[in-house]
Amino acid sequence: MLLRAAAAAVPQETTLEIGSIREFPLYNADLESEQGVPPAVQQLKDQIAAADGLLIATPEYNNSMPGVLKNAIDWLSRPPADIPRVFRGLPLGFIGATPGMGGTLLSQAAWLPVWRILGVVPFFGGRVIVSGAAKVFDEAGKIADPATDARVREYVEAFAAFVQRHKRGQSG
Ligand SMILES: Cc1cc2nc3c(=O)[nH]c(=O)nc-3n(C[C@H](O)[C@H](O)[C@H](O)COP(=O)(O)O)c2cc1C
Repeated sequence: MLLRAAAAAVPQETTLEIGSIREFPLYNADLESEQGVPPAVQQLKDQIAAADGLLIATPEYNNSMPGVLKNAIDWLSRPPADIPRVFRGLPLGFIGATPGMGGTLLSQAAWLPVWRILGVVPFFGGRVIVSGAAKVFDEAGKIADPATDARVREYVEAFAAFVQRHKRGQSG
């Protein structure tokens, strides 16, 4: 819901396409050496490689990043020779929501070493840490809380400007 709200809040000249990790299998080096990366992984790798930036909405599981999303990032980083094409220099924003108090604070912190090893350009110009998500979103999945709505809009606008400034291949 948070990612869809972010997609709806992008500035006019920006599009946010929502990718899917639904068909990703569990990472398996035997499968990779026999068959290469699965088609769903290849598709998302190509989508990311073609994008100017990447916005990730992370849940928080047991005070860290969810294994499901880590598994997806692990697949997307295979083979390592492709990491420069997919991730290096990629402007990356990360946001999250939880039903409880934490708002993905610990999950977002746990992702930091992963962003570093992939060589992305993380956006640190704002934070979206949504706690009590059940009260923040209405039944249609829209943000019902005006303060959260404003925070998401502000983040997305600042991230879109950051992406424009840090597009891959641009110096600086
Ligand atoms: C195994 C598991 C562990 C979780 N641990 C936490 C947690 O440590 N802190 C928290 O705020 N929410 C926790 N949650 C709630 C998730 O943050 C919440 O389910 C998530 O935002 C919704 O995304 P999902 O549908 O992809 O699970 C946990 C959920 C699951 C399933």
